[in-house]
Amino acid sequence: LERLRIETDFHSSEIIIGESWRSFGKYIPRGEAVIVTDDNILKIYGKDFNGLKVLSVAPGENSKRLEVIADLANRLLKLGTDRHGFILGIGGGVVCDIAGFLASVYMRGISFGFVSTSLLSQVDASVGGKNGVNLETVKNIIGTFRQPEFVICDPEMLKTLPEDEYRSGLAELIKHGLICDEGLLTDIERNIEAILQRDTRVLQGLIVRSVKIKAGVVAGDEKEKGRRMILNFGHTFGHAIESKAGLKHGYAIAAGMIIASEISVTLGLLSTNDRKIISDLLNSFNLLSEYKISTEQIRDFIMNDKKKTGDAVNFILLEKLGCAIVKSVPIGKLMDLYMRIKV
Ligand SMILES: NC(=O)c1ccc[n+]([C@@H]2O[C@H](COP(=O)([O-])OP(=O)(O)OC[C@H]3O[C@@H](n4cnc5c(N)ncnc54)[C@H](O)[C@@H]3O)[C@@H](O)[C@H]2O)c1
Repeated sequence: LERLRIETDFHSSEIIIGESWRSFGKYIPRGEAVIVTDDNILKIYGKDFNGLKVLSVAPGENSKRLEVIADLANRLLKLGTDRHGFILGIGGGVVCDIAGFLASVYMRGISFGFVSTSLLSQVDASVGGKNGVNLETVKNIIGTFRQPEFVICDPEMLKTLPEDEYRSGLAELIKHGLICDEGLLTDIERNIEAILQRDTRVLQGLIVRSVKIKAGVVAGDEKEKGRRMILNFGHTFGHAIESKAGLKHGYAIAAGMIIASEISVTLGLLSTNDRKIISDLLNSFNLLSEYKISTEQIRDFIMNDKKKTGDAVNFILLEKLGCAIVKSVPIGKLMDLYMRIKV
């Protein structure tokens, strides 16, 4: 079991990795909480929810809507949850976003914690204090920054995760290595078989390392004004591919990381050898799949990116494995670079 503390300007929260999720009662103040989860998790794990009250949403991105938040808030009111109440989100990134957002607006904010059940949420979504929902087609456009009291990551829970979801999470794990920690990449390379087998001990080590990277980046820049942007490596093109070509998040981010790496090579930053190591690693987990998207679709998507400033985007490039930089690039130039690379 490993405990990591995340200190930000406003709060400190604890990530507990390798703890049995069934011990959540130890971490809840006064032992009282309302659980927010989704129907898949409820079905597999609900019998061990210790009789706590449960609000469950339909699984999937479509539940990240203001209507769902309003409905949950109504149900909290009916349960008599007041300002001293506590929300425990048990689920993947969708549940963490919903539970965190609900907790941060209900009665102007009540405390909350997570049991993070997917690989993506263990290495990424539940760390960092961003909580948000979508509007129609714009992702995470309504949200808050608010840290949970605690996050429990139990790698045993990953055993029940569907294969595609698991691999999708691996892309974010690899991303953390690429932007900050070449050693993490080496660890992943050495353990490909164990990772594919979902070996709990190996996963625990990798999750700890990955959370440390995200926590370190977030601690210095909670509101994403500078360094935190490196976490968006692969996301400018990745989000376009996810939205327009319909690839699952991790697969789209893997494609986006290849494009960003190729652009880094074109700009004379990254070596072709490092570029090959990246695609080999992503390939070992079958993360590079075919997709169809036109240059116009990509341009349209990037033009509407909520993260652009004026006509430019903060694009994340790699100087070498484990070392990312942020560069403001005019969208026109970025598209020229995209058309020059071969992917
Ligand atoms: N707030 C942030 O900082 C942040 C960061 C990254 C991603 N996100 C968000 O996270 C979401 C994606 O998260 P996700 O990939 O975890 O998706 P998800 O929460 O939809 O989970 C994926 C699927 O796996 C199921 N599942 C989860 N854990 C399981 C388990 N242990 N066993 C069996 N089934 C399980 C879920 O029910 C769901 O059907 C996106 O909405 C994304 O925007 C947020």
